[in-house]
Amino acid sequence: MNKCYFSGTMKAIRLLCFCSMILAVLVQPVSSSSCLASIAPQLRKDCHPDPGAFEASCLARNCCWSPLKTLEIPWCFEKVDLCSVVPDSERIDCHPDPGANEEACVSRGCQWCASDNTTAPFCFYNSREEATCSTRYPIQKRIDCHPHPGASQEGCETKGCFWCPTTIANVPWCFYPADGPYGYVMKDAPQKTALGWRLTLIKRDSISLFGNDISPVVMDVEFHTEDRLRFKVYDPNNKRFEVPLDIESSSNLSLDPNYDVEFVDNTVLQFKVMRKQTRTVLWETTFGGLIFSNQYIQMMTSVPSTSVYGFGEHEHPSFKHDMNFVRYGMFSRDQSPTAFSNLYGVHPFYMCIENDFNAHGVLLLNSNAQDVTLSPFPSLTFRTIGGILDFYMFLGPTPENVIQQYTEAIGRPYIPPYWSLGFQLSRWGYNSLDVLKKTVERLKQYDIPHDVQYGDIDQMEHHLDFTYDKASFAGLPEYIKELKNDGIHYVIILDPFVTKDEPLGTYKPYELGEDLGIWINNSDGFTPAIGKAWPPGDSVYPDYTNPQTAEWLTQMCIEYKNTIDFDGIWINMNEPANFLNGQQSGCEENNLNYPPYVPDITGGLLAERTLCPNSKTFLGYHYDTHSLFGWSQAKLTFYACQNATGNRAFVLSCSTFAGSGKYTGHWLGDNFSRWKDMHMSIIGMLEFNLFGIPYVGADICGFNEETTYELCLRWMQLGAFYPFSRNHNAIGNKEQDPGAFGEEFATISRSALRIRYLLLPYLYTLFYQSHVSGSTVVRGLMHEFTSDPETQDIDRAFLWGPALMITPVLEEGARSVSVYFPEASWFDFYTGGQVSPSWQKKSVEVPAPLDIIPLFIRGGYILPTQLPARTTELSRMNPFSLIIALDERGEASGSLFWDDGDSIDSVEKDEYFYVEYQFSNRALNATVVKNGYRGIASLVYGTVQILGFTSKPNVIFVNGDTVPASRIQYHSNGKITLWISAPLFQDLSISFEN
Ligand code: NOJ
Repeated sequence: MNKCYFSGTMKAIRLLCFCSMILAVLVQPVSSSSCLASIAPQLRKDCHPDPGAFEASCLARNCCWSPLKTLEIPWCFEKVDLCSVVPDSERIDCHPDPGANEEACVSRGCQWCASDNTTAPFCFYNSREEATCSTRYPIQKRIDCHPHPGASQEGCETKGCFWCPTTIANVPWCFYPADGPYGYVMKDAPQKTALGWRLTLIKRDSISLFGNDISPVVMDVEFHTEDRLRFKVYDPNNKRFEVPLDIESSSNLSLDPNYDVEFVDNTVLQFKVMRKQTRTVLWETTFGGLIFSNQYIQMMTSVPSTSVYGFGEHEHPSFKHDMNFVRYGMFSRDQSPTAFSNLYGVHPFYMCIENDFNAHGVLLLNSNAQDVTLSPFPSLTFRTIGGILDFYMFLGPTPENVIQQYTEAIGRPYIPPYWSLGFQLSRWGYNSLDVLKKTVERLKQYDIPHDVQYGDIDQMEHHLDFTYDKASFAGLPEYIKELKNDGIHYVIILDPFVTKDEPLGTYKPYELGEDLGIWINNSDGFTPAIGKAWPPGDSVYPDYTNPQTAEWLTQMCIEYKNTIDFDGIWINMNEPANFLNGQQSGCEENNLNYPPYVPDITGGLLAERTLCPNSKTFLGYHYDTHSLFGWSQAKLTFYACQNATGNRAFVLSCSTFAGSGKYTGHWLGDNFSRWKDMHMSIIGMLEFNLFGIPYVGADICGFNEETTYELCLRWMQLGAFYPFSRNHNAIGNKEQDPGAFGEEFATISRSALRIRYLLLPYLYTLFYQSHVSGSTVVRGLMHEFTSDPETQDIDRAFLWGPALMITPVLEEGARSVSVYFPEASWFDFYTGGQVSPSWQKKSVEVPAPLDIIPLFIRGGYILPTQLPARTTELSRMNPFSLIIALDERGEASGSLFWDDGDSIDSVEKDEYFYVEYQFSNRALNATVVKNGYRGIASLVYGTVQILGFTSKPNVIFVNGDTVPASRIQYHSNGKITLWISAPLFQDLSISFEN
């Protein structure tokens, strides 16, 4: 008998029987050779056996490019004539039931070939063996019974599991069926709790993958807000590690959530979450598939569509995920971006766009080493080796709403200091003050905007934190003062390793840390864990989860500031990195250091390039807290930086975790000077905006390897639109700052950066919105045009907020870009002319000569701008302007946030200025909503541009006064420019009358 427990509005919910709708599918024969995603790996014939295959070189050979986790399977392969691979007569139907289409077919792990012969199945098994096995055990119902490598039939069957090989990557060969008598069952009926429901589950089968299974486990379902649901599965009898992120519930009894939950006790117990309004099932888990043991926890859920975004940190080949049995490991690692590797940060968060274009997001709040498998059913399988399953779901329903709700839970992003929105220059390997000075000087000579200068580890004495090299960088403190006089800010680097081997009495950071006892310790809990990195000798690691460490860090920063007058702190290699695998003495043989299951992480060893997992931190074993190192360091550094500078903190962290955006920005790590990496940087930037860390960018021109003139130039253009815009280079490479390539390069870089500076008031306002409401700063077109399926795959173009589309050149030699224009009015940024309405919902090739990055403004929006200058210190004094881009109804709106750009908590202290702009009925009204920043008094509006004004007005009034003709310019493309002078702090009205 079915039992159904319900929730949400507490209305009775009947179990519904769904009759599948039989759809008549019209299929078009595919071209005989194709690159369909469904091509089985064994059919891939290597098209680039020579080294150096990448997307462009592969496509140039007219081959297919599709990176896979497995390096042995070619990523660049010849086009396959699917229809001839298995002759019609040998095809075994994989979708005999009605409604077959490519997606449904691929989700069964079968081949799809729509041919002219309608008697042969279009959806068929890869082989007879697979047909036999998969008919009995459909791949979508398999729960992995041998997640680690080396499965054998004998070993599998001894465990009581089923064996059925398949050619499809990441589909378990050794498994138990999700709907069989396995996993967990309900002990009693669900109990009502103050926040929702509690279920006690007991394990019912004898299969144990790794031993130490926990039973009973409890699942709490908590209705946090109308749009936020939490469900967590934990051990009621033993406290396990939980991530110390305080996510408050604002639940009250009158809550009318936008979701319903159901526990269905059919042959196996199921848990479902549905969107109340549409009945879309957002989450459906079968407890028959739950594994909850001490060091292996696994849960699988269906997701309502294959439009899944997020999970990090990785170099993903596309923004929208490939769901074709792709698996990603998550565990902080000091690792240059490489396809499928787990990188610096950990973000077990995804967003899914449902088939009816509503969006929801889910966080698994767990910091242990873990992996997630994305499968085409579509489903997700979460596997972690510690902690608990602590899921938070955010109901959206728009992508922006999802991120707003997500950041409300984990912490809203901070507003970066205004100066840090300027252009930043860095390199590892100036090697001397002379070279640094020459580099800065040539930017000045070319009048290239430059707001921030960095010092990397080559400026330290023997790579020791809180020092500078008094030989090669003699005079650095004085030079920093000169930079400051020129309006340039200075950022220092801190590595997490502190050498313990300097002579006694000479290195305070170590000695003070010793006194305070703040190091990460060995498993005994009191002897410091010792690793090896840049500094001479061996190093210890501050434990930033220990509150005492704040005292150490603050004191060190304040003292260092007296020597090196820094404005911000770059925290690097904080995975934490180590040049050894584990401690000097190695890692003992035990279950923490060598757990029975290691998630799918690069190297397959938890201690690789870091400390032993059984090291002890204040919050617990490094096994649990490893991926929180960067997060905890960023938090303490944020406050130490504020204390030392007295100003708003600037922190840039390599390693991040959910919630880091409250304290830090992020750069995308040690990328390569390759064209592909430019594209990857857009994906990374979009993803970090989903993760609540909008202050993000990649090393412009590439970090590793030598750049080229054209690559670097195109990258300067793209990087001018990273929220965090920094050119950074690795030691040993040739110079790549924008002054290094001569006049033409400098001029083009300068003009791209001047556009950035012009638009900084708009960008800063986006950061304010992100801080107060959690919106993204940079977003994919999918966020704004969600119901246009074309936008879901776009990751070569992006938006600043809702209003500015950036479409960079990402290919060598290209002098045009294919731009998709979603349904809206668009205006060319450079001319202000309207893009032909016939281009809407089309991809159009637009010119992009070497000196241009194509940019488009969306009708309906007002962008505040300010005349650019060489630094933000200067540009902040210039007159403001408005770009008013009208929509089809002749309307537009926008806003401007302004404060002193550098003080702490100006929003919380009400020390800011905010004005809202509205254009309708041929009139602009600017309404000052907040006037809490005294410095606003000296600022004025200088120009106003209206784009898309169709009928020329006879007279224009500003605050009731007629604007003289000499101060108006009518352009033939519908643009009007007005030169005005009006104070910013007062309401403004401009009307256009006939
Ligand atoms: C690794 C960092 O990712 C890179 O940016 C930096 O230049 C080097 N370490 C040296 O500090």
